[in-house]
Amino acid sequence: MIKVTHLSKHFKIKKRKPGIFGSIQALIKTETDLIKAVDDITFHINSGELVGYIGPNGAGKSTTIKMLTGILTPTSGDIQVNGINPSKERKKNAYQIGVVFGQRTQLWTDLPVEESFDLLKSIYKIDEKIYKQKLELFFDLLGLKDFFKQQARKLSLGQRMKADLAASLIHSPSILFLDEPTIGLDIIVKEKVREFIREINRNAKVTVILTTHDIQDIEYLANRIMIIDKGKIVYDGNLSNFNSLVGNDSFIDIHFASPVGSLEIPLPFQIKEKKSETNYTLIAPENEPLSSLLQILQNKGVPIQEINRQKPDLAVALKKMYEGKNEL
Ligand SMILES: Nc1ncnc2c1ncn2[C@@H]1O[C@H](COP(=O)(O)OP(=O)(O)OP(=O)(O)O)[C@@H](O)[C@H]1O
Ligand SMILES: [Mg+2]
Repeated sequence: MIKVTHLSKHFKIKKRKPGIFGSIQALIKTETDLIKAVDDITFHINSGELVGYIGPNGAGKSTTIKMLTGILTPTSGDIQVNGINPSKERKKNAYQIGVVFGQRTQLWTDLPVEESFDLLKSIYKIDEKIYKQKLELFFDLLGLKDFFKQQARKLSLGQRMKADLAASLIHSPSILFLDEPTIGLDIIVKEKVREFIREINRNAKVTVILTTHDIQDIEYLANRIMIIDKGKIVYDGNLSNFNSLVGNDSFIDIHFASPVGSLEIPLPFQIKEKKSETNYTLIAPENEPLSSLLQILQNKGVPIQEINRQKPDLAVALKKMYEGKNEL
């Protein structure tokens, strides 16, 4: 569905020395710095996937999305979105994709939301009946009706994001690009937006590429993550493999029914902390089954009152990676 091969985008920016002398010098000869915003990336995305495209600030995420949507032309490499080259056939591509930039609205800000939708309806030549059905769905899932008559520039951030999401899907695209769709939203709206994204991916079978700095968005939504850093893709796979790759273990809290004295547990389980004679926290790889631990404890004859496993902390793993403590 989406094929990206050896894609790069370089920006040249003028170097200017400070002061008036620097300005004069800049007029005569221009030295430039080259920024490799996207640096030779290759990936495939299949129909129906929901991919979390993550990475630190300035990593190259938005630049990638802009190339995939045809807003920017690549410096080199190839993009095929359902066989269409986005920058060469931008209009044709627009029919099959939806895009939301969380930082900026795509709506006509002077118009009431409703009129923006009317315009989209005629631009995309959407059949009246299908249009009505879509609107009903968005009214239902996003509560769009409450602010449908409101001028777009007067919407709150959450309302604007919902309107932008609905607008991006009104022409029934098969692919949706979301660049930080939950930025600045309160917890309730965030959850609503997350559920909506999941719904359209699962039920409407829309392929979704999502960039976000919100770990919970990723944990809740993404079945695949691609991590980009300094223009290069440094990880492409699922979350649990990522956790085990960076050695990010799960925590197991055990409350024993009576004091256990000295507890010895074989690897891969390790004691992280002994909180009291009856309370321990262990660590173990995420995919290590608890049954083997239970068997060990049973053999030792130590009765368990409660046992709790917490998923590895993705934020910790990402921080480690972004700080370069783990070479992948
Ligand atoms: N039009 C441009 N001209 C020059 N440099 C640019 C341009 N657009 C982006 N860049 C640079 O390219 C790099 C990647 O930027 P990009 O916006 O893709 O990052 P990002 O991963 O989306 O970051 P964030 O998480 O902060 O949104 C940055 O160093 C940025 O300054
Ligand atoms: Mg960005």
